[in-house]
This record gives sequence, C-alpha cells and structure tokens, in this order.
Amino acid sequence: MPMTKETSPSWWAAGALYQIYPRSFQDSDSDGIGDLRGIIDRLDHLSDLGVDALWLSPIFPSPMADFGYDVADYVGIDPIFGTMDDFDALVLTAHARGLKVILDLVPNHSSDQHPWFVESRSSRDNPKRDWYLWRDPAPDGGPPTNWLSEFGGSGWEYDDATGQYYYHAFLKQQPDLNWRNPQVRAAIYDAMRFWLKKGVDGFRVDVIWHLIKDDRYRDNPPNPEFRPGLPPHAALLTAYSADRPETQEIVAQLRAVCDEFDQRLLIGEIYLPIERLVAYYGADLRGAHLPFNFALLSTPWRAHDIAALIDRYEAALPPGAWPNWVLGNHDRPRVASRVGPAQARVAAMLLLTLRGTPTLYYGDELGMEQVDIAPQDVQDPFEKNVPGIGVGRDGCRTPMPWDSSPNAGFSDAKPWLPLGPDAAQDNVANLRADAQSILNLYRALLRLRRARPQLSLGDYQPLAVQGELLLYRRCHQGESVLIALNLGAAPVSAASDAFGLDGEVLLSTLMDRAGERVGATLDLRGHEGVIIGRAPEPVV
Ligand code: GLC
Ligand code: MG
Repeated sequence: MPMTKETSPSWWAAGALYQIYPRSFQDSDSDGIGDLRGIIDRLDHLSDLGVDALWLSPIFPSPMADFGYDVADYVGIDPIFGTMDDFDALVLTAHARGLKVILDLVPNHSSDQHPWFVESRSSRDNPKRDWYLWRDPAPDGGPPTNWLSEFGGSGWEYDDATGQYYYHAFLKQQPDLNWRNPQVRAAIYDAMRFWLKKGVDGFRVDVIWHLIKDDRYRDNPPNPEFRPGLPPHAALLTAYSADRPETQEIVAQLRAVCDEFDQRLLIGEIYLPIERLVAYYGADLRGAHLPFNFALLSTPWRAHDIAALIDRYEAALPPGAWPNWVLGNHDRPRVASRVGPAQARVAAMLLLTLRGTPTLYYGDELGMEQVDIAPQDVQDPFEKNVPGIGVGRDGCRTPMPWDSSPNAGFSDAKPWLPLGPDAAQDNVANLRADAQSILNLYRALLRLRRARPQLSLGDYQPLAVQGELLLYRRCHQGESVLIALNLGAAPVSAASDAFGLDGEVLLSTLMDRAGERVGATLDLRGHEGVIIGRAPEPVV
C-alpha cells in the first residue's frame, strides 16, 4: 500500500472519492445550472454518505463548448459557477468537514478563446504560435495527417488567416496544446501550483494519455475491429496521436509538481487496455498515484468476466502500485441502466469491497438511471456532431434529485437538463428515510469500509466463481472478511466449509439480514450480495 514519509497509508488509499458534475449538483442562484454555493449547501450529503474527497469536473472560465473541458483561463472560476471567494469558501468548508477537494486539470487542450490560442492563431510568427500544433496542409491541400477528432470528423481545422491547420483531438473549439514546448509545460505547472497553494488536494488530469503526439506526424493505422455502430473516430487506432512513449516524462513532471506539496493526489484519466494503463503509475511509481481504472464500465456483467478482470488487473499492477476502481462518470451510461436497478446494489458492494480506491459518480448512490433526452434538449456536443448512435452524454449528467419539491430541490428555475422521470420519488430525502434504500446501502458500505480495514487496505484473495456467484476474501492483519456477490437473477448457494464461510452477515445488499449466522450453506437471493465476517465487538 502507498506509504508516506511517516509510513502511514496515504489518505486516498483508504478513502473513497466522489465525482461531482458541478452543473448538475445544486443550483443556488436560480439560473438552472449548478454552482459552487450550491455544492457548499449540499456538503451535508457527502458527510452523511461517508466519502473522503470530492472531485469537481472543470469550474474554470470557459465558453462551455464542451461544458468546461474547454478552458479559457486555468486560474479562474467561471461566473456560472461563482467567484474565487466561493471557491475558497468551498475548500474551507469541505476541509473543516474532513473532505478533500480534487480539481479537474485539462492540460491537453485549451479553449479556442483562451488568450494563448487567440495569440497563437494571430500570425505564423507570433511568440505563442508554437504553443499549439500548427502544420502545413498536405500536398493535396487536405489535413496534414489522417488523425480523427474523438467528437467526429478530422482532427485538423484549417485556419484561413494563416494558411495552416491546427490539431484538436476533441472539438475544433479545443485546440491541443504543444507539450513539446517547455513554455507550455511551465504555464500549466504554474496553474497547478496556484490551486495547490490554495489547498486543493490534487488533480484528476483530463485525457492524460493524449498529451503528446508523434513528432513525425505519421498517419494512424486502421482499426481492424472497427464495425458500424461505433463512433467514427474508432475507425483508426491512435498509435501516433496518443499514448506516445514521451507521455511518461510529462506525467512524472505533473507528479513532481504535486509532490512539491504534502499529500496531494494525482489521478489520470486513461482509456487504455490494462497492460498499457498500468504504465501510467510511472517508472518507480513516480507517475500518477491512480491511473483511473475504467475496466468495470465495459466488462460484461457476468461473474466469470468480472473475476477474470480483477485477476488480470491485480496481476498487471506494478509492485507497490495502489489499485482503483470506477463504476460511472460523466462520459459513460449510468451503471444502474447498464446492469439494471436490482444489480446496481451488487455493483455498489463490488465497488466498495474491491482492493483499491473507489470513485463514486454523483447520483449513483441513488440508483440514478440514464435519462432519455429529447432531441430538442440535447446539449452534448458529441451527440450533436455524431447523432443517433448513442454516444450522447447528457443522459448521465442530469440534475441530482434532492427532494420532492419543484425541480426536485435542484433549482428554482428550469434545469439545464431535464430531471429523470423518477426524481419526485427516488430523491435523497425519500431514499434517506427508507432504511433499505440503495442510498442507505451505500452509507452502510462506506461505514463498514471505515470500520473494517480489511475492506479498504486488505489483500484481495479470489475464492471461486460458481455460475453467477462471485466469492472473494479481503485480509488484513490476520483477519479477513468474505464477500459473496450474486450477479444473476436466480438464487445461488455455496457450501460454507468449502470456503471457510465462518461468521455472520455483516451486510446484505438487501439490508435485511445483518447479524444472521452463516450455516452449512450460504444462500443468496437473486441480485443479492453479502459481506461476511466476525461479529462486531459489543459496545460497552
Ligand atoms: C475527457 C472528459 C470529457 C471531455 C474530453 C475532452 O474525456 O472526461 O468529458 O469531453 O475529455 O476534454
Ligand atoms: Mg446556478
């Protein structure tokens, strides 16, 4: 487990992270868009839930072409979200409650409205020209390479004024910065220091595997697995436009900036196969503390597949690297829709009992589902550029439902995205009052994790897969807890002596059998998971 100088585990090893999509958490000024004051007003929920840190998707000044992932000033706050005073107040209030604050750093690209890019595009000899990736047209006048934008079309945009193309891995309003230029590096590192000095506890670095591109600008090869229905950019592999060897040097530098301060966390957003993903821990673990592990988002929800994934990931981790797991984020369909509402409880137990730092996505603790967005309500530029094949991300970004008042307590005004159809019932107030709700399951899981270090810091020992039953153990300092998850709809049972199923049920996902002694067999209902361990010490 990661140790600090004092050799105690770093806060984030045992901690649980919680992602807030700021536009959708709580509106405080009646413009239908969530903001920082709104988040401050709702910190009670995070304390009550029992998470350790909040990560905010970008809150910096932005034209919002990609809702904040197009940054026009790396050291400011967008007025939509509030002021710098609001931000300072948020950090102060969160810290007073023992909650850490993680920001989203978007260093791969800026907004096309960022003064750096405005200058860069103004002339070929502008001092900032080289801060972005400008290339002459191909001999036929077309784009310099075949590289594609993740959001549809060519990755190159022709600029009439100066007769060159600039590269953008995402929207044309998001020109990629040139990370080979030392001035670019210094500028971003200084922006990091600005926030770290304010007491920010770390960064989630956006598309960290994209940061540097092939210096020879070679064409990307075709993707042999491309098939209709996939987004158009998947037609090519990103061999020359992402995950280049030089990336690791930059990741180590980003980490070194964090290490100028105490106990700051560096997370990398990385969509790569596990074997490539783990490279982002860096040589001698001097890279990202947590290269985000998104594998649960795409692995078939079957006991066999999940067990194989865990084994593969555990085996691929470099010695000493601390694992992590993610079930949802603002780019992928909601877990409750993917695995179904009943199975979402099992998913919660899996996330919070695997070895490694868990990241929860806001609303997943309510079992929020993907919301259907009518064509006239679509906001996401990805969906607008590539309509009709289901790439839209609005459905997982809808407002958090708090109570049964108008707009579910999210805002006095019409929310920027519609609330889900169940918001009047399945909101925080109602679910908190229902002892067996998924929200209370999440609370109980997080409490148990805190009380039993086996669940946070313990070793992971696979036990068995029997049909849809997944069994594993977590051991720490001579004590273990056992986790049994039924990933299917049919009841299952396991012979207790075969697995050392000794002890009592500490928690069931159905919240109705804690304290039950395990007999000769452990019987699980459909979509049920249990944690089994030694009975809690009596309170004297
Ligand atoms: C990351 C973000 C996503 C954004 C993209 C471009 O994948 O999570 O929301 O659109 O980067 O910044
Ligand atoms: Mg607002």
